[in-house]
Amino acid sequence: MTDPGTLATLRLPDDAAGILTSRHPWIYRDHLPESHRIPDGSWVRVEAGRAVAFGLYDAEGAIAIRLFDWDARPDEAWWKAAVTTAVRRRDGVAAEGHTAYRLLFGEGDGLPGIVADRYGRFAVIEPYARSVEPFLPLVARSLLREVRLKGVVRRHGSELEVLAGEPPPPEETIRENGLRFLVNFTAGQKTGLFLDHREHRALVRDVSDGLRVLNLFAYTGGFSVHALAGGAREVWSVDTSAGALADAVRNVALNDLPAERHRVLDEDVFAFLPQLEEAGERFDLVILDPPSLARRKAQRARAEAAYRRLNAAAARLVTPGGMLATASCTAQVPAKAFDAAVKAGLREAGRSASLRVKRGHAPDHPVRKSFPEGQYLKFRVFDLA
Ligand SMILES: C[S@@+](CC[C@H](N)C(=O)[O-])C[C@H]1O[C@@H](n2cnc3c(N)ncnc32)[C@H](O)[C@@H]1O
Repeated sequence: MTDPGTLATLRLPDDAAGILTSRHPWIYRDHLPESHRIPDGSWVRVEAGRAVAFGLYDAEGAIAIRLFDWDARPDEAWWKAAVTTAVRRRDGVAAEGHTAYRLLFGEGDGLPGIVADRYGRFAVIEPYARSVEPFLPLVARSLLREVRLKGVVRRHGSELEVLAGEPPPPEETIRENGLRFLVNFTAGQKTGLFLDHREHRALVRDVSDGLRVLNLFAYTGGFSVHALAGGAREVWSVDTSAGALADAVRNVALNDLPAERHRVLDEDVFAFLPQLEEAGERFDLVILDPPSLARRKAQRARAEAAYRRLNAAAARLVTPGGMLATASCTAQVPAKAFDAAVKAGLREAGRSASLRVKRGHAPDHPVRKSFPEGQYLKFRVFDLA
């Protein structure tokens, strides 16, 4: 990778001007002329017709250039201003008392390839492109100052690299919807927690009073703790990660909730659902939040089939008059296709359903009109007859 200070120029055919004027932040490698020679990791001025944009070039991956500005190459002041704007956009979320939320949502905040999450006094940055790596310390220092954090880190497997400030302790306790959760910086999945469901977890708390709840793909029990806090009579948390389930137990205790109402099951959801059906277990609320089921476009059809199957199997466990809360974080499966797959699953299970809630992104996961791909999260709640 060369010094990102270098500015190369790339001319695209005139008919590619629309790519630049649309302000979509990506240029795919197959849009580049075959004979281009741009140093890996350098800034590039892209021209097409009379349109111009400035981005960072990656020699590997389907996305060749991530665009950051359409007037000039970003300088230090530009980066600081972009971070300030993103942090101010979360002022409302912070004012609600949550201490864990997404600070930078890559393309949605005009910072393609860079995600950062706040966990209490610390933040974790996750880059999605090599070309942005030289800018991470600058972004980290800006975050530290703007959010008044103690430290900003990047994770490499189970190792942490301190980008600014101090290293965090192994665990931090955060506050979400007035409840407390542990975050493990080195053993957690993604940056630590799945922050994108904060508002959906609050919603589950609001409807859980007196219910028997099954939380599938429970991770550290975010939905389970909310359901118990909402007065659920019994909650089962199912996941294949023993470490996450151990933290789910600790999170229940941390909130002084009744441990005897919470059961954790280290099981593969796909295999476990038919067993539950066979055993005659039924629940008033089933929560279904699987991990991403497709990484590439080619896997989309398979993912849709998996959503249909999972939702059918989950719906069979819902008591008459109960609810199914179903989510998808698969960016490759758009909302329409997910809704169709869920509908097909409900039909397959022979359940008639009416839609109670249809949600997607919270304000800390902003989606730009010019980047609809950022809209990855779907969350629905159905009432089942
Ligand atoms: C999107 S996360 C769930 C986040 C969770 N709902 C929350 O609010 O924090 C997906 C979870 O599925 C788990 N998982 C992945 N494959 C699984 C499987 N086949 N059976 C059970 N759990 C699985 C992962 O360990 C992870 O905890």
